[in-house]
Amino acid sequence: MIRLNSLCSTCQVMLAFVSCFTEIHAAISVRVKIDVKSEINRLNENFVGFTLDSSLLRHHWENLDVRSKSVQTLAKGLSPCFVRVGGTGSDFLIFKNGKSISSSSRAANGSLGYGIDLSNEVDYTKHLTNFTMTGEFFDSLYSFVQSVSWNMTFDLNVLLREKEWWDPENAIQLMRYVAKKNYRVSGWELGNEPNAFYHILGYRINADQLADDYKRLYQILHDIFPQFNSSLILGPSVTKLCKENSIAYFTNFLQSGGGKIVTAATFHHYYFSAKTATEQMFLDPEVLDSLIEEVQLAVTITRKWAPYTQVWLGETSSASGGGAKGLSDTYIAGFMWLDKLGVAAKYGIDVVLRQSFYSGHYSLLDHNDCSPNPDYWLTLLYKNLVGRTVLNVTSSDASGQLRVYAHCTNIKRMQYKPGSVTIYLMNLHRKEAVNVEFLNFLSETVDFYLLQPVPSTNVKSKFIGLNGKTLLLQNNELPPLLPRKQQGKIILPSLTYGFIVIPNANATICY
Ligand SMILES: *[C@@H]1O[C@H](CO)[C@@H](O)[C@H](O)[C@H]1NC(C)=O
Ligand SMILES: *[C@@H]1O[C@H](CO)[C@@H](O)[C@H](O)[C@H]1NC(C)=O
Ligand SMILES: *[C@@H]1O[C@H](CO)[C@@H](O)[C@H](O)[C@H]1NC(C)=O
Ligand SMILES: *[C@@H]1O[C@H](CO)[C@@H](O)[C@H](O)[C@H]1NC(C)=O
Ligand SMILES: *[C@@H]1O[C@H](CO)[C@@H](O)[C@H](O)[C@H]1NC(C)=O
Ligand SMILES: *[C@@H]1O[C@H](CO)[C@@H](O)[C@H](O)[C@H]1NC(C)=O
Repeated sequence: MIRLNSLCSTCQVMLAFVSCFTEIHAAISVRVKIDVKSEINRLNENFVGFTLDSSLLRHHWENLDVRSKSVQTLAKGLSPCFVRVGGTGSDFLIFKNGKSISSSSRAANGSLGYGIDLSNEVDYTKHLTNFTMTGEFFDSLYSFVQSVSWNMTFDLNVLLREKEWWDPENAIQLMRYVAKKNYRVSGWELGNEPNAFYHILGYRINADQLADDYKRLYQILHDIFPQFNSSLILGPSVTKLCKENSIAYFTNFLQSGGGKIVTAATFHHYYFSAKTATEQMFLDPEVLDSLIEEVQLAVTITRKWAPYTQVWLGETSSASGGGAKGLSDTYIAGFMWLDKLGVAAKYGIDVVLRQSFYSGHYSLLDHNDCSPNPDYWLTLLYKNLVGRTVLNVTSSDASGQLRVYAHCTNIKRMQYKPGSVTIYLMNLHRKEAVNVEFLNFLSETVDFYLLQPVPSTNVKSKFIGLNGKTLLLQNNELPPLLPRKQQGKIILPSLTYGFIVIPNANATICY
């Protein structure tokens, strides 16, 4: 209220009374009720993770300097977490124990080395040729992941085949290497989006065959490398669960024995292709809601055929094909990302792996200079504030434009006390602010973390501010993420998102 009044007095000076009047009436009120008596879901303790696309291995890290202090700080800030090393390139990766070839011979082969020029768009779909990952490169990958305390899962090449079977010889060589070096790989995966092989390669591996290949992987992990017998096994990384063929593939894989092998059933999700992405699509409730059905499907099918298996969104982002430039890498992407985390948590996903930490326009770090994109800060706040227990929220908003989710607060990373509740919400209204009232906590003092683009009118900004302060690394360290104390109604400006912590919620379920 105070804010609207002051806005009004300013605009009375500056503008005609009429427009001031409309401004006030434009504010919408929404009542929100959080059920703190029961939990609707409990997440993996490392709910949010990331990917490093295998194309990074092909291109020797592109512009990511894994030894730089800022990259290390940013990566470590997100740990502990899973990082999936995988993607289309994994099915063209051949491991070779040894040193990397010199950069001159790499250049002679026409492949891209360090300092790759990204002003020319890299088309990630066009790299369908084999490449070598040396032991030396794997060392640099492992040493990065280890130094920032990430748990790595590694995607193995399923296109190395002998007749209709997977040929595990090269995978065994890699595992031997990992075992000899005493490296810790948290999990293994076999192939990437196998349901799309026919589409991109003209080659088919049926779901029941893939399940048999996974059985082979399981045997190798138990018989040849018993020290890996507690590794996670992830699969079948099916994409486009909105299509009948994909649903059938996912189902058949689990049904024909894959469900007994995998620790987590995985699928991939993008809302749309980068080629057709528009600003409006990032703010469209119908587009955001389209994820719900896919999540529900994946969870229902997995519960039926593999009741004890987790469900992971094994690779996911806003727009497929490298992300949409100027959208996937700006403030506006946060609506999709935050809503995706909310939907995934609410409808039964255990882990969400964001494509990508680095590489492509959808990455958390800028593709060229590795500075953090708005989604980096959003993810960091999410990890800091949002806990594992998901609560049920109901709101009086019927438009789908005010989206709100609630969990118990993560009390491990910030100094909040048990019983605290975290709400995250976004306002998709183009012009109207929303007054949000939390019915069970009307008189509580809350911590408000309002995220706005900088400048605040540009949703396509590369910069994001927390309570009015632009978020930037400070001398290669993360800045403090400070809330604003507030009592009563929360006013969420148009086209913004944020978090609210209720430290005195005393929610029994959150103790
Ligand atoms: C580069 O090309 C040479 C000659 O064709 C070949 O022997 C070598 O294996 C290639 N290296 C890679 C990494 O493709
Ligand atoms: C990659 O190498 C494997 C093993 O040599 C071979 O079977 C496969 O056809 C190669 N794939 C491509 C795309 O060259
Ligand atoms: C993740 O890594 C840590 C440290 O290496 C380890 O203690 C933990 O068991 C790992 N978790 C999984 C699920 O692999
Ligand atoms: C895993 O291997 C260890 C020895 O490395 C063994 O003690 C344990 O029983 C094995 N567990 C399973 C489930 O096979
Ligand atoms: C959430 O609350 C609504 C309204 O009370 C109720 O209809 C719905 O079943 C609840 N959902 C869960 C998963 O408990
Ligand atoms: C939670 O407990 C504190 C301390 O006993 C109290 O001041 C506060 O009002 C309680 N909050 C709610 C929502 O009941």
